[in-house]
Amino acid sequence: MFKTKIAGIGSYLPDNIITNDDLAQRMDTNDAWIQERTGIQSRRYATNFKETTTTMGAKAASVAIERAGIIPEDIDFIIFATLSPDYYFPGCGVLVQRELGITKTECGALDIRNQCSGFIYGLSVADQFIKTGMYKNILLIGSEMHSMGLDYSNDGRNVTVIFGDGAGAVILQPAVNEKQGILSTHLHANGTYAEKLATLSPGCHGGYHASRVETEIDYGFPDTPYGGIFVTEHMVKNNQVAATMDGQFVFKMAVQKFPEVIGEALKKNGLDKSDIDMLIPHQANLRISQFVQKQMGLTDDKIWNNIQKYGNTTAASIPIALCEAWENGKIKEGDLVCLAAFGSGFTWGAALLHW
Ligand code: UT7
Repeated sequence: MFKTKIAGIGSYLPDNIITNDDLAQRMDTNDAWIQERTGIQSRRYATNFKETTTTMGAKAASVAIERAGIIPEDIDFIIFATLSPDYYFPGCGVLVQRELGITKTECGALDIRNQCSGFIYGLSVADQFIKTGMYKNILLIGSEMHSMGLDYSNDGRNVTVIFGDGAGAVILQPAVNEKQGILSTHLHANGTYAEKLATLSPGCHGGYHASRVETEIDYGFPDTPYGGIFVTEHMVKNNQVAATMDGQFVFKMAVQKFPEVIGEALKKNGLDKSDIDMLIPHQANLRISQFVQKQMGLTDDKIWNNIQKYGNTTAASIPIALCEAWENGKIKEGDLVCLAAFGSGFTWGAALLHW
């Protein structure tokens, strides 16, 4: 059995910087509220008609491919994690394959819909393929173009101020050096809370869940046997096509599950929190990261946060932060790196690896 190593990493952030003051022009919010509750100072927005989740993912991937010393045609398999895909279907995996010009090889492409934990889930899937010898070069991308799917009215302000656009990518390969690579990955989910952080439409649910979960949402489905339409006019008019979140509920679960799953990963490998050289938490909210840091007794040099500049980029946040920490010389060969995420689903997970 091989271990899986990150052979190359890249990220892409669009140029367009959106400050808290910029958002305050569009909705009833302000810089002080956003910074105090989330730590966010600005985020990036991609340029509509010029950029998409796929094109940003392709840019991050190109950097990762070059740094891994391979060419796009060497890729055996693509995994793409996003909650803001270009199309409802097909997924961004095949679109990025086309964007990178590697359709000739007809390698497989898989899309992951696990929101904030999408990168960890993708890493775990890739790890199994590499360990068993099935693939030698897997491209894993996390990319989001949230700016297209947010509610810029006052109704959406608790969600909209948090999110930003961006992409990160890694190339995963079998590790030659035994001391390098992924030690373990740990994945969890609890669908009880599916609607606590969600974009409910478009979907084919036909109002099914509305009668079964605590929600007062009126989906406005026509009363016909064929009511399960992707998007109704009612949904659009009532802003049901944007993300909604019970922020305090999500916050409370996040601060519980982050330390829990990191602890599980450490225990599995007979390691202690003091062994961690760098923790890269999903950038959900700076207050969540600070809580986790304090609980684990980590000094400031052992955790990387960049939500202040980029906001919450969901599936992209871990690879963007990992890439930035590495580019800044904060992760060196042999370092024990811990990745951890929690988010919509709820889904959460952690990975431990030696760089
Ligand atoms: O990445 C996926 C996982 N996501 C997370 O982990 C997010 C977890 N949750 C959070 O980060 C926080 O819950 C938020 C930052 C989203 C919200 O902070 P909060 O302290 O939970 O605020 P709240 O939603 O309870 O709202 C408090 C007040 C309300 O006003 P009243 O009812 O007290 O008068 C809101 O209407 O703040 C108001 N408010 C805002 N005010 C200014 C909500 N959003 C805004 C805003 N600007 N953007």
